Amino acid sequence: MAQRTPNTKNQILLSWVNQMANLCQPEQVLWCDGSEAEYNELCDQMVASGMLTKLNPVKRPNSYLALSDASDVARVEDRTFICSEEKKDAGPNNNWMDPDQMRETLNPLFAGCMKGRTMYVIPFSMGPIGSAISQIGVELSDSPYVVANMKIMTRMGEGALKFLGENGKFVKCVHSVGMPLADGQKDVKWPCNKDTKYIVHYPETREIWSYGSGYGGNALLGKKCFALRIASTMARDEGWLAEHMLILGVESPQGDKKYITAAFPSACGKTNFAMLIPPTAMKGWKISTIGDDIAWIKPGPNGELRAINPEAGFFGVAPGTSFKTNPNAMHSLSKNTIFTNVALTDDGDVWWEEMTETKPSHLTDWTGNSWTPDSGKNAAHPNARFTSAASQCPSIDKDYENPAGVPISAMIFGGRRPDTIPLVYQAKNWEHGVYIAATTGSETTAAATGTVGVVRRDPMAMLPFCGYNMDSYFNHWVRMGNKAGSKAPKIFGVNWFRKNAEGKYAWPGFGENARVLEWIIARVNGTANAAETPVGFMPKYSDINWNGLEMSEAKFNELTSLDASKWENEVASSAEFFKKFEGPLPSGFEKIQKQIVSGFVGKSETKFTEAFL
Ligand code: GTP
Ligand code: SPV
Ligand code: MN
Repeated sequence: MAQRTPNTKNQILLSWVNQMANLCQPEQVLWCDGSEAEYNELCDQMVASGMLTKLNPVKRPNSYLALSDASDVARVEDRTFICSEEKKDAGPNNNWMDPDQMRETLNPLFAGCMKGRTMYVIPFSMGPIGSAISQIGVELSDSPYVVANMKIMTRMGEGALKFLGENGKFVKCVHSVGMPLADGQKDVKWPCNKDTKYIVHYPETREIWSYGSGYGGNALLGKKCFALRIASTMARDEGWLAEHMLILGVESPQGDKKYITAAFPSACGKTNFAMLIPPTAMKGWKISTIGDDIAWIKPGPNGELRAINPEAGFFGVAPGTSFKTNPNAMHSLSKNTIFTNVALTDDGDVWWEEMTETKPSHLTDWTGNSWTPDSGKNAAHPNARFTSAASQCPSIDKDYENPAGVPISAMIFGGRRPDTIPLVYQAKNWEHGVYIAATTGSETTAAATGTVGVVRRDPMAMLPFCGYNMDSYFNHWVRMGNKAGSKAPKIFGVNWFRKNAEGKYAWPGFGENARVLEWIIARVNGTANAAETPVGFMPKYSDINWNGLEMSEAKFNELTSLDASKWENEVASSAEFFKKFEGPLPSGFEKIQKQIVSGFVGKSETKFTEAFL
């Protein structure tokens, strides 16, 4: 590949790249232009080096498979740091180290870390280039896999560089896999550093330094590091929101279109919900996709909150994705896709758990070993992912690239809760909504390392992603709603994961979630009934459209029952979680907790439909 020279006069950028090249000592520096030719050339190189396998072009045109090192399969939350000048600004929700001390720690690690490799200069825009809501970043990385993924996930290359111009500001992102190649040392398929990983953010100087991992959010620095952790601090300072939310459009049969956002923790159904296809019985209802993971939300000229998707692609969870659960995702990944840690079929296509009803009789699993259905282990890693352009999604919204964003009418919060939390409930007002958001909990999943299946509090699904102290974050949320006043979105809680007495999911989920959406939209429009309960407004059985779905009133009651003692525990566990924070929490939180508990007095162990009608 020809060495390309910088097509920019931005002195700050040029001298920073020089400085970093001197530190990291790559063999060469290559400025990425973001072209198809560059992408293809890089992929060819990775195929030659063994990092990528080209998939069967008939089955999966222009697509590749990467298998990571077994030690590098997910975000590393315990190695993620917010290095603000003051410890209290990072808060108990983040790992903190003094920024000077962190720089002293990282400098020797980055010194010579790119020896024998290319340092790619990757200019990118988060959000449509030129939108007032968008931001520019530049990532320096020694991973061609990162370049290829950033090409799909962001607006990467010449356009971003041109928009940055001579004097534009950008977020500095430095990334190394942390495995320099000594003279003549042969590279491995997935270079990373098995012993040392650091994902570091300096919020005051808007810098990101990532070392030792090549996977997902650890390495594609535009995503969680920039668009959530750094952007959340920008948003706090400038009066907007950077959230771990999908954005979707809902159009009624009458042609009324509304946009809503939803925050679910990692691997809890954002991609599915963002691309949902309503059941055929919901004739005339249409759902369109703006984004599946991140929303940047700013007050518009009339005070309404408007959202953009800062990303340009999906880095979606593969296992569980099928034509049954998410056809739009299956179409999105039908071509031009990079797969990571899924299994390879004998005819050069991909497979993962639940992709098809019958398992293939033979595969090469994500560890590169031969696999049969009798192997007794997963063929794909549970956090295996596909990287596909948003433009390939059949449900992509016509305003997906609108620089002004789309107006948000409702916000939904939810997690994996086997009990306690009902199918759907509506906040009584904005501050109550912020309380619902702040007390979101979920059983842990494979998207982060750690134990799976334990309920942890994950406020706004942002616990791993809020770049500053969450007590200030909650107050920022309250202020944002107060400013929006009557234009503030309505807030809802949902739970698709409630289990019945047999331990099975009590709600069919996926496309059927559209029924809940229909009620939510009707609540926004003021046309749906609801019963007031201590935890919020809830639909009665008759308030939901059950056309085409077998759902008895008894089963519905199972999904929506409010158990007094469980809610007492819920409030106590939230209060316990809040104790971690030193700063003042929104003043209404305590009052809301008292109201929930007192609302159940004399109504213990009963179904809400009987108790609160
Ligand atoms: P990140 O990309 O990690 O932020 O996660 P995400 O929220 O986009 O996750 P995704 O949509 O890919 O969730 C994947 C998992 O959620 C799979 O195991 C799905 O089967 C499951 N899932 C999604 N929607 C539903 C649902 O409505 N009901 C149930 N039971 N499971 C669901
Ligand atoms: C998540 O974990 O929430 C993701 C995947 O969206 S990653 O980009 O790896 O963080
Ligand atoms: Mn995510």
